[in-house]
Amino acid sequence: MVNETTVSLDNLVMPLFACPGEKVKNPIGSMPGNYQLSVDMLVEECRELYGLGIKSVLLFGIPEEKDEHGLVGADDNAIIPRAIRAIKDAVPEMFIIADVCNCEYTTHGHCGTIVNQDVDNDLTLKTLAKQAVAFARAGVDMVAPSDMMDGRVVYIRESLDEEGFTQVPIMAYSAKYASAFYGPFRDAAESSPQFGDRQTYQMNPSNSNEAMREIELDVEEGADIVMVKPALSYLDIIRRARDTFNIPIAAYNVSGEFSMVKAAAQNGWIDGRRITLEIIRSIRRAGADIIITYHAKEIAQWLEGKTSF
Ligand code: PBG
Repeated sequence: MVNETTVSLDNLVMPLFACPGEKVKNPIGSMPGNYQLSVDMLVEECRELYGLGIKSVLLFGIPEEKDEHGLVGADDNAIIPRAIRAIKDAVPEMFIIADVCNCEYTTHGHCGTIVNQDVDNDLTLKTLAKQAVAFARAGVDMVAPSDMMDGRVVYIRESLDEEGFTQVPIMAYSAKYASAFYGPFRDAAESSPQFGDRQTYQMNPSNSNEAMREIELDVEEGADIVMVKPALSYLDIIRRARDTFNIPIAAYNVSGEFSMVKAAAQNGWIDGRRITLEIIRSIRRAGADIIITYHAKEIAQWLEGKTSF
């Protein structure tokens, strides 16, 4: 009666990595229980997830080949549009969110087009919008730009609208910090920058006021949901966003947060299950409506048919 925070499986989103080939299920070394999946296997995974009560996935793509600008990701036959169509065919009820960013698709691993050794903000908007429109054409339910270019939400919104996709919402990675917690993800998505880092476009971990400005701008530009990322070291930002903005808040419990728990649990140093549930509960308590987490599947399995904890 007095329990203040409940997490429902409806709050959880499971990230998945799509890769080329058939019958491929490559374990991601630093993220036990997560795989690079070819489209056929991805479909099977979605079927299983949906059966377990996980009704939303966030897709990342690993292309066959990469290019200068990341345009390989924006083709109608690119890995993500193919994955979206296949999942929609087999598990039409699954809510598909697709990450919009160039870093998985560029040879240099940066999130956009390089000019003078740094990402050019405005040139990058064009490739991002192309990608978002290709995902919409394939039937995506929501796009999630994670690049952190300025002005990308309104640019993507207008591009989607012009193509008739006025109903496709945008979940913006609004307060995304330049974080070491993304390490395991970059192995999984093969997206490490080949030179420099992402500090010219991602946020300084010292800043909280700036996060509010970033969120405010994205809301003004037309974001439907805003995100704080990572989650665990940024619970104060989630809480502040919740108290400041009347809009759904998503939090990304990122790869490094996941891998730390797994490593410690494998060593027998912590009770992995209890810690995981405690962490997810804390993110919800901080004010997140939506929690993107690699733990989503195992949590659903642990609940054994229950739908909340
Ligand atoms: C792409 C992107 C990243 C993550 C989500 N989208 C990596 C990055 O910015 O380097 C990280 C997710 C995770 O660590 O789980 N820009």
